[in-house]
Amino acid sequence: MTKKILVTGGAGYIGSHTCVELLNSGYEVVVVDNLYNANEKSLEVVKKITGKDLTFYKADIRDEKKIDEIFKKEKNIFGVIHFAGLKAVGESCQIPLTYYDNNISGTLVLCEVMKKNNCKNIIFSSSATVYGDPHTVPIKEDFPLSATNPYGRTKLMLEQILGDVYTADKEWNIVLLRYFNPIGAHECGDMGEDPNGIPNNLLPYISQVAVGKLEKVNVFGNDYDTHDGTGVRDYIHVVDLAKGHVLALKKLAANSGLSVYNLGTGKGYSVLDVIKNMSIAVGRELPYVITERRSGDIATCYADASRAKEELGWQAEYDISRMCEDSWRWQSKHPDGYKE
Ligand code: NAD
Ligand code: UFG
Repeated sequence: MTKKILVTGGAGYIGSHTCVELLNSGYEVVVVDNLYNANEKSLEVVKKITGKDLTFYKADIRDEKKIDEIFKKEKNIFGVIHFAGLKAVGESCQIPLTYYDNNISGTLVLCEVMKKNNCKNIIFSSSATVYGDPHTVPIKEDFPLSATNPYGRTKLMLEQILGDVYTADKEWNIVLLRYFNPIGAHECGDMGEDPNGIPNNLLPYISQVAVGKLEKVNVFGNDYDTHDGTGVRDYIHVVDLAKGHVLALKKLAANSGLSVYNLGTGKGYSVLDVIKNMSIAVGRELPYVITERRSGDIATCYADASRAKEELGWQAEYDISRMCEDSWRWQSKHPDGYKE
């Protein structure tokens, strides 16, 4: 029997790419998204790419009654991939209560409804942000955890909450996936990241410079202890990340208990490396200026992803040049994202 997966936040950036991989791997997909940070058009693209259908409910995961109705209506949901959440670090410092309510309360409601409906399999979107400022790199899963902003604290707390849920009831199977820096887009060029307003993250910012919507890239500091002084991150293609979720589902199906995996490439690239690679993809030098450090940023962050390789059989395939090519294909075909 085909397994039915509920994808919260499935209309968003990582969610929509994961829906494609799920449908291509033969899963049935039910998406719940309140469209706060997404456009339903992404799901039309998912259907077009895969030639398969999915079920979409516009709903908020904090709406217990509605989520319960969805579980009852869909009957046999095997597991949940839980992407729904707010994710902007800066914004989380301005409106912390909104972040705690959405991310923490939302997950509590979701887990309560899952338990009630005897669905105890969940994959949770965590983040490399839970490592704070690591004492060394590459980062392994057993490194000390800390958080420096409300967004990071929601991820850290939710990891702990899910750990407690498992300790209390060993029927749960929980996979915590700690993503490094997802970039890139589906190769068709019709599905990608579509941030509202001026992007906070590096890749969407560079892409908007490339397309002429922004003047130049601000490089936040060149006095870090890295090979060229600019911040180093582990950029990972969103399609590789999406495939990691399909493999994590197989792990859940084997009654794995509680597990945690880094999803990264294991390679670090600086801001200037990324600008160089995007310039090659775009076919011209992209303008940038060195500015002050951004408060809260760390120098270097990249993963040791060997546990995911050994236990899930997962490994990132796409390199930085491919990530930039795919980001550019999406941005150049859709300068206004899904809003056009
Ligand atoms: P996204 O904003 O594109 O996707 C999140 C989706 O959740 C959106 O479609 C939004 O409308 C939906 N949503 C938010 N709150 C909801 C609610 N209460 N009820 C229903 N739907 C709701 O973000 P993304 O980049 O695809 O990230 C997905 C997950 O991965 C998030 O939990 C994020 O924190 C985590 N993550 C992202 C990154 C990154 O850099 N993109 C890195 C690490 C972890
Ligand atoms: N940067 C710039 N200019 C910009 C934007 C970013 O120089 O306009 C630099 C940053 O200083 C950093 C690097 O580019 O050195 C990457 O910055 P991003 O904002 O793209 O990503 P972060 O590593 O700061 O954080 C992202 C998400 C977090 C998540 C983390 C790890 O925003 O939520 O990746 O997954 F936790």
